[in-house]
Formats: sequence, C-alpha cells, structure tokens
Amino acid sequence: MDLETKESMKHCDGNATDEFIKTEVQKSIAAGSSDSFWVTDLSRVIERYQQWQECFPTIRPFYAVKAQNNAPIRMLLKSLGSGFDCASLNEIRDVISSGVNPEDIIYAHPYKQVSHLKEALKLGLISVCDVPSEIFKVGKTAEELGVRPRVLIRIIPVLGETVDKFHMNAKFGAQYETVGEISKAAKEARVDIVGVSFHVGSPCHSSKVYGDTLIMARRWWDALEEEGFSLSVLDIGGGFPGEGGELFKQYSRDINLFLQKSFGDIIMEGIRVIAEPGRFMVTSSQTLVTSVIASKGPRSFVLSTGVYGGLSNTIFEPDQARACKPYKINLGSIDEGVKQGHENGHVNGLRNGHTNGHENGYGKEKGLALWGPTCDGTDVLMPGYTIPDLETGDWVAFPNQGAYGSMTMSSFNGFDLPEIKFVKL
Ligand SMILES: Cc1ncc(COP(=O)(O)O)c(C=O)c1O
Repeated sequence: MDLETKESMKHCDGNATDEFIKTEVQKSIAAGSSDSFWVTDLSRVIERYQQWQECFPTIRPFYAVKAQNNAPIRMLLKSLGSGFDCASLNEIRDVISSGVNPEDIIYAHPYKQVSHLKEALKLGLISVCDVPSEIFKVGKTAEELGVRPRVLIRIIPVLGETVDKFHMNAKFGAQYETVGEISKAAKEARVDIVGVSFHVGSPCHSSKVYGDTLIMARRWWDALEEEGFSLSVLDIGGGFPGEGGELFKQYSRDINLFLQKSFGDIIMEGIRVIAEPGRFMVTSSQTLVTSVIASKGPRSFVLSTGVYGGLSNTIFEPDQARACKPYKINLGSIDEGVKQGHENGHVNGLRNGHTNGHENGYGKEKGLALWGPTCDGTDVLMPGYTIPDLETGDWVAFPNQGAYGSMTMSSFNGFDLPEIKFVKL
C-alpha cells in the first residue's frame, strides 16, 4: 500500500460507516434481501494502529489474526508495519498469502499438530511451548527436517485476585517450578529457547496482571539464561482493551512503567519486545447489520442472524456484547438516521447482557427479546436490549463487534454466513 493511500485512509471519519451502512441496507431492500451483513471500516484499524504506536513506541505489535482474519485487514496491517500472531497452519498460510515475511510471524500456539508444525518449521517461524513434551515434539520434527528450531517459553500469567475472570491460565502457561525440566528438555531436544512469552487472558481487566506477570517473566528470563540459553525476545501477548481510547492509554502508561521496572536494563541492551494484540486492533472496525424477519409478539422479534451466526459474540464475548449499543437504522435522511441511531444506541442501549438474560430467564425482561433465526430455543440474544418500536422489515446495527464476531460464526440450520462488506477508503 502506498503512502498516499495510507494518508487518505487516515482521513476517513466515522460517518463513512453510517452512510455506507444505510446505502447497503437500501440496496438490500431494493433487491428484496433481508440477509444480515458485516460492515468493516478499515480507517478504524488505522486509528488503532496509530494509537498503539503512540502509546507503545518500543513494542512491535504482532496482530493476533484470530480476532478478525480477512485479506484487507491483513494487508493493511502489514503495510502499517505490523507482525502477525498465528495459531494454525491456515492462519499462517493466510498471512503468507498477504505477502508477510516469515520473520514477521510468530506461531503462538503451545500445542501443535505435527503437520502444522512441519510447515511452520520449514518457514523458520519462532513457535511457543509450555511443556517438555511439546519441546520434544518440536525438536524431533525439526531434526527430521534438518532445521534448528527456536521457541519462546509461554509462562502462566500471575492473575492474583482477578483469577476468576480469566480462563487462559487453565489451559496454557508453564509454572516457574518447571524451569529446570523445560531447560533440560530443550537441551536434549536441541531446541533453542530464545525468549519468554505470556498471554494474560482475553480481555484483561487489570493492567496489574501485566505488571505481576512481567516480574515472573524476568525470573524465567534470568533462570533460562543461567541455564545457558541466549534470550532476545519478550512477548507480552494480547488482552488489551477493545474499547481503546483512554482505557488503553491508562493500560499503556502502566505497562510501560512495569516494563521499565522489570526489564529496563536488558531493554537498554537491545532485546526485542513484542505483543499480540487482537481485539484492541479490530473491535471498533466492524458493525453487524441485521434485519427483523418476523414478530413473535409484543416486543419479541426474530432477526436474520443470531447466536449461531453473526451474534455468536453473545456467547463467546459476553463483555463485548454487553458493551455494544445496538440501534435501529433509520432510513430517513442520513443525518437524521445517524443521529437517531446513535441516540437510541447510547441512551436506550443495552441494559442487560446475555448473562443477565440467562439469569433472569428469557422473555421476563422489560426490554426487547431478540431471537436468532435457527430452530434452537437457545438462539436468543440479550433480552435486555431496549430498542424502541421495532417491526418486521426494520434493520438493526450492532457496532463494535470486530473482534472474534465474524470468526466464530457457523451456518447451522443452513443460514448463510453474513457477508463482509468493506467501507471504501
Ligand atoms: C496467544 C494469544 N495471543 C493473543 C491473543 C489475542 O488476545 P486479544 O484479542 O485479547 O488481544 C489471544 C487470544 O486469546 C491468544 O490466545
């Protein structure tokens, strides 16, 4: 992407999304379609990338492509200078097909299928391990290929009192007590340990978790160097808030201080600090646009997509779903429509999320019951939404759904996956 294009991208403002949504809805209506669709506005990704650079000038982002994986996002982030975090062979292939150099990719999944690992090793990617058995797998596979593998040791995050909110530590991360056996395995398997990584959980609700985990990462770093490994990469993972803005600024101020405290001396010596932000980069870039296909009764409506489709976030990302302020799309004049949409969203928005909905029982909320189109009775969305006066044929937008939303959809019951449309830059 040339500089001129980048420059013009910078000047895209939020209204472009609203105008685009309205035009696309009008096109759908004209074509007799009530299918849901996604709208992706890449200018939002540029804003986020710029904010990252301002707040973390010395930490290179390796975008966690799992958050939203499509060619325009990959190509944009590559052009801006991002690296990529991949978890599977298909993600690696996607990123390579966008012209990304292998040295700008990290294969960040601690548990790998051998077929995926082989390709990653052939490309020379750094991978991640947290147990001796995987280190042996990497070593054996690399030996068969005649290559020397490099790995980061993924350590368990120090969650403290926030432990109940995070799930990642149940699945991934080495305990400090295993540093000896991990070192021994790496030496035996001829695997070069070149750094330490962690992932605090997604999303992370406390910057302190980064601080405490960085202290632990430094213990690991020193112990591994003592074992004879030469470390050069510190990977602080993802988990940065999808909201961006002031919250992100606060996180970055804290994390920069924590980094200085724990790693300042060796950062001065030139180690590389990288991160794997996913949701931070893309949450604000995508809006789900859906239509009301039927009315079940007063204040109870069926949408053209649901928890098995574009709104799977309701289950997988309840925080993001709760924070979303859906609004009815007003097809009057653009200004009026946008204004009313935003007012409906912000003023009446989401009162209770999916969790509350479940706790309180479907249909008992005073707000709106919104059902997905499948035959499954659990295909119901956040009954607490209070969008006034919907009727069959209306269109509703769910903004800020860019992280994981379009990645976890299925076509259960034969409903088409919502198409992704891109706002022209
Ligand atoms: C290893 C790893 N890195 C990065 C991420 C991205 O996290 P987030 O989207 O919260 O930034 C994830 C997602 O869970 C992950 O598992």
